[in-house]
Amino acid sequence: MSFTIKVNGQDHAVDVDGDTPLLWVLRDVLGMTGTKFGCGQALCGACTVHIDGAATRSCATTIDSIGTSAITTIEAIGDTPNGKKIQQAWLDSEVVQCGYCQSGQIMSATALLDSKPAPTDADIDDAMSGNICRCGTYVRIRAAIKQAASAK
Ligand code: FES
Ligand code: FES
Repeated sequence: MSFTIKVNGQDHAVDVDGDTPLLWVLRDVLGMTGTKFGCGQALCGACTVHIDGAATRSCATTIDSIGTSAITTIEAIGDTPNGKKIQQAWLDSEVVQCGYCQSGQIMSATALLDSKPAPTDADIDDAMSGNICRCGTYVRIRAAIKQAASAK
């Protein structure tokens, strides 16, 4: 079937089965490999993108469920005000270790700041608990989110 999805402000026509996960379309059809495959079962957060601003697991989102919603991926999150602050804070705090989980971490952190400009520790725990980091960068992630929240 043919679907037109809006990714990072651009329309893309794709010809895939309706039950194809968005993650597959992003990576294998559109060549946007910044969004990562981790578990494929909505358990790890590596595949997180924004759909109409909400952090969403793209491995568990079928292409036929998206309609005209706007998708934002890690490739364009730095073009948004909070995405830019989050990415700068990630650099300043040297958050990344192996890096595999970090696209998803940044997408979830940006969605958090979009909804709560001054998140508490509990807000951070709640928003980030679904993003697993095997390298254990959680302490630096929390510091970076706080830095981004206080950035001008
Ligand atoms: S790959 Fe989607 S949550 Fe793990
Ligand atoms: S930085 Fe390695 S899994 Fe998170």
